[in-house]
Amino acid sequence: MQTSVDRDWTISPPRLRPVAVLGTGSGVPPRTLTNADLEGMVDTTDEWIVTRTGIRERRLVDGQATSDLAIAAAEQALLAAGVEADQVELILVATVTPDECCPPVACRVQAALGAHRAAGFDLSAACSGFMNALMTGHRLVGAGAFANCLVIGADTMSALTDYERRDMCVLFGDAAGATYLGEPRDGGEILDQLVGIDGRGAEMIMAPAGGSRRPATLETVARREHFLQMNGKEVFKFAVQKMPEIVETLLGRNGYSIDDLTLLVPHQANLRILEAGAKRLGLPLERVMINVDRYGNTASGSVPLALDEAVRTGRIRRGDLVCLASFGGGLSWAGSLIRW
Ligand SMILES: CC(C)(COP(=O)(O)OP(=O)(O)OC[C@H]1O[C@@H](n2cnc3c(N)ncnc32)[C@H](O)[C@@H]1OP(=O)(O)O)[C@@H](O)C(=O)NCCC(=O)NCCS
Repeated sequence: MQTSVDRDWTISPPRLRPVAVLGTGSGVPPRTLTNADLEGMVDTTDEWIVTRTGIRERRLVDGQATSDLAIAAAEQALLAAGVEADQVELILVATVTPDECCPPVACRVQAALGAHRAAGFDLSAACSGFMNALMTGHRLVGAGAFANCLVIGADTMSALTDYERRDMCVLFGDAAGATYLGEPRDGGEILDQLVGIDGRGAEMIMAPAGGSRRPATLETVARREHFLQMNGKEVFKFAVQKMPEIVETLLGRNGYSIDDLTLLVPHQANLRILEAGAKRLGLPLERVMINVDRYGNTASGSVPLALDEAVRTGRIRRGDLVCLASFGGGLSWAGSLIRW
């Protein structure tokens, strides 16, 4: 699969007001599924999982839905930004696992927060969903349509995971992360973004049934076709190529080099992808945010969850140059360059 960032939609900021990330938050369910637990469920070993993926454990819901994780993340982001829920003007939720196909998760979040003035909607771009929502929120706030925006990435991947398939069930977990965007306070600003898709790779990661093409039937459920399936090797190759391309493009066209980058916060799919990408970039692993070992791949939740951890643990400070990068189903990819 050949893809190129030449076909990205470049989101440079013509006549937009500056917009900053003013707060972050995360929501993870309490239940932990370890590699030892998986050894009792499928024919696998801790050694295989750690060597091939770097994942040691992941969090799974226990009765909660995607909105519960999203609400927890949003509450933290508002607290961190020091704003009340009734000030929020827009709520965007990126997810591939809404509580139900209707209503939008954004509506559940709005009601639970008491964000009565807020407009909102969900959007979906697989593992690049949060980054596309960030771009949307940035543009809408930057254009003056809304004064601020809660941007949430939230997924309950356990709902799409076949726990009888050893190649899939070791990879995914459930989580949400959130950011609050508004007028800059301390000089921080979202500098640049890019997004892209290549639909020729649409079938590399897909749930064959349960949508409008093949609605769920007793037969599709018996054949477990409502769960995700993936061509792991091809996705791996795509990710290892795309992740460094995103970073190089964003840094290069803004006049920065890899030495200027404080921290790369990539989509957390597999430690080997992050290591290979960092190597291609000449970026020491100490400057890559990694928490895939504790959460696995949480799809839309992945980048904002890692970002929130980086902020809370002091790995990102005011004035730092931060790059977010995602890749995933679709195929899709996205990047964001932020002066913190
Ligand atoms: C899924 C992934 C970890 C598989 O690793 P891999 O090195 O490509 O492994 P393979 O698929 O070639 O499988 C090698 C062997 O391990 C086996 N295997 C697969 N999962 C296993 C598991 N959990 N435990 C033990 N063995 C396993 C396979 O059956 C295969 O056995 P075989 O050679 O007898 O057929 C890897 O391809 C990957 O991470 N891809 C990217 C996935 C991703 O990030 N997707 C989301 C993007 S958003």
